[in-house]
Amino acid sequence: MNLFNVYPLFNINPVKAEGSFLWDENGQQYLDFYGGHAVISIGHNHPHYVEKLKNQLEKISFYSNSVENKIQEELAKKLGELSGYEDYSLFLCNSGAEANENALKLASFHNNKKKVIYFSEAFHGRTSASVAVTDNLKIIAPVNVSENFIKCEFNNSEELVKIFAENQNEISAVIVEGIQGIGGINLLTKDFILTIEKLCRENDVVLILDEVQSGYGRSGKFFAHQEFGTKPDLITVAKGMGNGFPIGGVLISPKFEASYGLLGTTFGGNHLACVAGLAVLEVIEKENLIENSEKIGAYIEEKIKHFPHIKNIKRRGLMIGIELDQACEDVRKELLFEHFIFTGNANHKNVLRILPALNISEKESNLFINALEKTLKAIDVEIVELK
Ligand SMILES: Cc1ncc(COP(=O)(O)O)c(C=O)c1O
Repeated sequence: MNLFNVYPLFNINPVKAEGSFLWDENGQQYLDFYGGHAVISIGHNHPHYVEKLKNQLEKISFYSNSVENKIQEELAKKLGELSGYEDYSLFLCNSGAEANENALKLASFHNNKKKVIYFSEAFHGRTSASVAVTDNLKIIAPVNVSENFIKCEFNNSEELVKIFAENQNEISAVIVEGIQGIGGINLLTKDFILTIEKLCRENDVVLILDEVQSGYGRSGKFFAHQEFGTKPDLITVAKGMGNGFPIGGVLISPKFEASYGLLGTTFGGNHLACVAGLAVLEVIEKENLIENSEKIGAYIEEKIKHFPHIKNIKRRGLMIGIELDQACEDVRKELLFEHFIFTGNANHKNVLRILPALNISEKESNLFINALEKTLKAIDVEIVELK
């Protein structure tokens, strides 16, 4: 049997990883400045994470959600403490799409309405409702299409006010990323998020903050929306939550009432996933990774901001969009195949997306900074040579 061919692959097969480095089967070392799509939060194979998972494997790795699992409670407690959402409750699932799917359902159960507002450039996952609120027609199948989903331009308060007025009493939820990731590291303006929050409050609309990519310390705060003092009704998490172990969750405001069977999952919140999630939070706390995220992010920005061909840097913490004056694909390939550094791209072809582990050091960052400088300067040499 062949694999279903949906991914354009780089011809690299990593077989080992530690901290911010990967090694392929030929022993070639790579610097990971992308965290496998923002997933690696505490570094590959962090010793505390490995030890906790190994210990758990030797005890019990899974039983169903029909019995108690005290590790789920431990995880919820720790997440509440570190995020500042101690009065919220936690529903555990397996991925970001699932977290958003459950949040959208929960909103609709709660206010018995069915329309959802989402934004241009948004990405919320590939399941039914999650993909319907994603701004990418290529990944929306006919079965996902419904008039319940209304797109508004990102950061356009006027249009949002108009949509609310036109759909009075019908809007169940607004879903927005803390920072748009795949869209190209697009930052919310304060005016826009406060307008969203106000309209939601005034119209019994649930505010869902998708922190799947921007959460867990990546932005220099536990959640990116905390920069604005916003208090969403539902917050979705995944990616960095498990440092590679599949886990997702919805943080749920106390105003939502739980009832048996309302939500459910077979694998969500299993013992191994919860231990991974707990290990991540313990390392984030012990090693002050939220502070490190802002410190190193600012360091990188400062060092690269005068490099040629950089038009703009969009950044919070270690969520960095480097906008070039041209498509970034060749730069990305040069970084990977000449300097052995993984970086990412975005829907905007000029934006190089940088999402390293939150414990990356200045020394490791210098490898990227020097390689980027060489690569960008070489573009000018090529132009001169062509002339
Ligand atoms: C903001 C955001 N939400 C949701 C998702 C979907 O997460 P998953 O791929 O775990 O389903 C992603 C994935 O890239 C994301 O960036």
